[in-house]
Amino acid sequence: MTDAPTVIRTKRDGGRLADAEIDWVVDAYTRGDVGDEQMAALLMAIFLRGMDAAEIARWTAAMIGSGTRFDFTDLRRDGRPLSLVDKHSTGGVGDKITIVLVPVIVACGGAVPQASGRGLGHTGGTLDKLEAIPGFSGELTLDRIRDQLTRVGAAIFAAGELAPADRKLYALRDITATVDSLPLIASSIMSKKLAEGTGSLVLDVKVGSGAFLSDPADAAALAATMVDLGAGYGVPTRALLTDMSNPLGRTAGNALEVAESLDVLAGGGPPDIVELTLALAGEMLTLAGIDGRDPADTLADGSAMDAFRAMVSAQGGDLDAGLPTATVTETVTAAGGGVMGDIDAHAVGMAVWRLGAGRTVAGQRVQAGAGIEIHRRPGEPVTAGQPLFTLHTDTPERLPAALAELDGAWSIGATRPPVRPLILGRVPR
Ligand code: URA
Repeated sequence: MTDAPTVIRTKRDGGRLADAEIDWVVDAYTRGDVGDEQMAALLMAIFLRGMDAAEIARWTAAMIGSGTRFDFTDLRRDGRPLSLVDKHSTGGVGDKITIVLVPVIVACGGAVPQASGRGLGHTGGTLDKLEAIPGFSGELTLDRIRDQLTRVGAAIFAAGELAPADRKLYALRDITATVDSLPLIASSIMSKKLAEGTGSLVLDVKVGSGAFLSDPADAAALAATMVDLGAGYGVPTRALLTDMSNPLGRTAGNALEVAESLDVLAGGGPPDIVELTLALAGEMLTLAGIDGRDPADTLADGSAMDAFRAMVSAQGGDLDAGLPTATVTETVTAAGGGVMGDIDAHAVGMAVWRLGAGRTVAGQRVQAGAGIEIHRRPGEPVTAGQPLFTLHTDTPERLPAALAELDGAWSIGATRPPVRPLILGRVPR
């Protein structure tokens, strides 16, 4: 038997946590016997001191053990077992890839059980985005998830009874500046993914200013840690390292990103969103052993859009009701002409958060319409007076702080910035 001050002190002083200490503290926190103030101190100690691979594996196991593990291996479609495969991103700005990718995989014959998260720090969360659709709910019972997987091929849901320790830790990390820690990110993601019942998993590990771990070596270490955790549970796992220096696409913010995703599902949309979606789809289909359709065809022929509509409607969403819009907008225009340079993804994420798309207090409602439209992407020509960014919010008093975040985050130059490859690496290679 141990106690919270002892566990905190051990990590604070750079020691290793014993298996029994990890099991105890995760369980006691989930049950409410360890308080938020004690866990906040422990999270900060982990943030500062780190954890070794064995500690991360045990912490992840304790988080999985805090709840249920789903098993969908008995589900059948047309008499055959489902090809269960999922994807998770470590978090980015304008990262609406899941919204497009899940229906692409369904249209290719896969089934996606996706436990998803809400906004964290400066990054958006898929559930917050999808819940911008009138009526859409991510709160699904296990029976509904099973039914949806069989009937429409995908369900995107709040983790609920899966890894409930993560729900509490995620909310606490979000408000205690303890998000950007390798052991905490790896255990948070993998506890949900290993409990959700997927058969295989592709991770999109972000690198660059808008990522939680911006340094390429740290991101590669995070990818390797998560791939190993997946293998340890018999879930084949692969990771792509992808650039998050610039925001993805032309929008960041909940409803704005859903609208942009619909453009991609309709066969258009920004090329970076299409490229990343197709790269991740290729990895998922290979890993799940699904052979047949070219994922690009599902965007061109509308079958991914059909799959998206079916999933949204199964979850109560009404796409025909229109997406919410913010009440106030403000547009930043170019003082002079030239070429748009890089746009700092972290700054855009912070600006979007300040506009009301994210939370400052756990459990807060987010503004569905808040966010930023990016009118000129890096490398695009700009003329004086042209709109560069439009900020959207329901609370105009937030505009100055959001504009301050954008200050210095972009530039207009005489020449094109170097083209950044989107896909930076793969783990395992
Ligand atoms: N996504 C998660 O689910 N958890 C993290 O810690 C970061 C991104």
